[in-house]
Amino acid sequence: MILSKAKRIGWLIFGLLLGAVGCGSSSNQEQQEPVLGEQYYRDLYHWNASKGLNHSFLGRGINIGNFFESPNYEGEWNGDLTIQASDFKNISEAGFASVRIPVRWSAHTYTDNPYIIEDSFIDRVQEVVDQAIQANLKVIINTHHFNELFYDDVNFDFHRVRLLAFWGQLAKHFPLDRYSENQLVFEFLNEPHDNVTVARWNDLVTDLTNLLWDTHANTQNSVLGQRKVMIGTADWGGPFKLPELELPNSVNADNTIITIHFYEPFEFTHQGAEWTDGAQAWIGTRWLGTEKDQQRLFEYLDAVIRWNSNPARGFEINIGEFGVYSKHARAEDQRAWTAFIAREAEKRNFSWHYWEYSSGFGAYDPYKEQWRDALITSLIPQS
Ligand code: BGC
Repeated sequence: MILSKAKRIGWLIFGLLLGAVGCGSSSNQEQQEPVLGEQYYRDLYHWNASKGLNHSFLGRGINIGNFFESPNYEGEWNGDLTIQASDFKNISEAGFASVRIPVRWSAHTYTDNPYIIEDSFIDRVQEVVDQAIQANLKVIINTHHFNELFYDDVNFDFHRVRLLAFWGQLAKHFPLDRYSENQLVFEFLNEPHDNVTVARWNDLVTDLTNLLWDTHANTQNSVLGQRKVMIGTADWGGPFKLPELELPNSVNADNTIITIHFYEPFEFTHQGAEWTDGAQAWIGTRWLGTEKDQQRLFEYLDAVIRWNSNPARGFEINIGEFGVYSKHARAEDQRAWTAFIAREAEKRNFSWHYWEYSSGFGAYDPYKEQWRDALITSLIPQS
């Protein structure tokens, strides 16, 4: 779970380009309460009735984070907890429409050609995908934390071929006639960064879409439709590299969802995060939802709208991750920021996935077996 400074630097540059500077705590802020209006805790855009599915394909969703993307085994980052069918029932009953399941395929694959994924691992992922679908949830599976691809520059081509090999196997394992286009989405790569530069990412998107829709056309295209893909941006998945994303002609608004991750202001959402350089110094950062706080985030979100307004685009935009690390942030600030992002996404018809279900940002407490009230009511308002 290492996020280098690069993630932060990307956001900073973007913020400066937009002329948005300044955030964080000051001593008088410490005394204050969030000023975000109570309307943000209401179902302002009628997403409750359909879980957001009247407005977008994926609606409201949550990440099954810190399970299948941990370095070695499912319970490694979660005190040996594993995901159960009852979790998906719980998620569905709470009002979510979809789940994003991050998976570290690279840790469960033979490293010689043809790079076969271990049977026991792919079967386990399939089991949880089936459980989610049975609970009436749409599912996204991705490639998460493929660190060798990001950092092992000498062997970049080798890891690139492995990435293609994972998706070749997944295409066969999850064919459209068993996992319909309405149930399962493939997200090629979480937060491309470092070795996966903008140019390399653009090439990879072309290679991966060709692989899925041409090489594996027999399982991924049919009279039933076409496997949808989710494509993010280079430089850690934020919105700032959207203008440099080049999409092949085969990509269109029916078969592709564009995903961005949203953790801004990073010093607030990641205060004290052990995996982020410098984050100890951010402990105490507030987010009060003042006009200035809001304005800064509107600029990021509206830049995405502007990018997508090009007639050749018009994609579903998905905020595939957003959330606040719970350990140090004030609960009332976390509540306000979460409600703000969720409602502002809904206002723009962006589907979203909260990061994450039951771990360090968790909306659900797996030990008390209950949702954390402030978070769940921010995500899915009761009214
Ligand atoms: C990473 C997680 C991390 C989260 C928040 C995700 O993209 O995969 O490991 O906890 O971002 O930093």
